[in-house]
Amino acid sequence: MRIAVLGTGVVGTSVGSRLVETGHEVRMGSRTAGNERAVAWVGTTGAGASGGTFADAAAWAEVVVNATGGLVSVEALTAAGAENLAGKPLLDISNPLDFSGGFPPTVAQPDGRSLGELIQDTFPAARVVKTLNTMSADVMVHPRALPGAHTVFVAGDDAGAKALVAGLLRGFGWAPDEIVDVGGIAAARGLELYLPLWLSLMGTFGSPAFNVSVVRARPDE
Ligand SMILES: NC(=O)c1ccc[n+]([C@@H]2O[C@H](COP(=O)([O-])OP(=O)(O)OC[C@H]3O[C@@H](n4cnc5c(N)ncnc54)[C@H](OP(=O)(O)O)[C@@H]3O)[C@@H](O)[C@H]2O)c1
Repeated sequence: MRIAVLGTGVVGTSVGSRLVETGHEVRMGSRTAGNERAVAWVGTTGAGASGGTFADAAAWAEVVVNATGGLVSVEALTAAGAENLAGKPLLDISNPLDFSGGFPPTVAQPDGRSLGELIQDTFPAARVVKTLNTMSADVMVHPRALPGAHTVFVAGDDAGAKALVAGLLRGFGWAPDEIVDVGGIAAARGLELYLPLWLSLMGTFGSPAFNVSVVRARPDE
């Protein structure tokens, strides 16, 4: 598939590289076409990788990934163009972390609504799926580097978009029963509010190489 990755940070470059490795064409989007990090990423990633503005990338793509800073995501997606997002699955990996009061950051959810919902409300024709925001970039794309089963969540209102996202996640190495559908895009509230716990765990372990695993009773128990 042709996939636009909006965001040139560690998440955008990691997800972009893994998508290319797993057989997709990726165009990395940033505010400026000559963005240094995007140019460097294209240089090291090789065939299948290209760069452009947020709008160039989104217009070209069949699927769009939001890997921009959470507090600027609506701005970045507006620059990408609502018309270039319409009808397309939009994987939203962002976290609305507000560092203005120092560390630890707060999760910005005005009126109790998540950034995932705000993105869906602002771009109603996009098919938003919140996923992968609950772990570090390396764990997102190399799940088998951690021992045992662990969990990636998907939330969104469009069943077809969630199925497509699950396929991309399986391509990264996630097992089908590790991909847990937590419902509509309103479930993004909890996925974003997990971040304070993630940050505490990061402090405890001194490393981002961890994840949570949801363990259920067997159906007959
Ligand atoms: N780091 C992690 O391990 C991790 C894990 C889970 C979720 N996340 C979430 O994933 C997202 C990406 O994180 P990251 O650390 O890779 O990158 P980041 O530094 O949070 O975001 C970088 C991107 O944001 C864009 N940006 C910055 N200011 C902007 C503005 N005013 N308008 C439009 N775009 C702007 C940058 O554009 P340019 O390319 O033009 O500079 C760049 O592409 C964040 O929402 C983060 O919370 C991160």
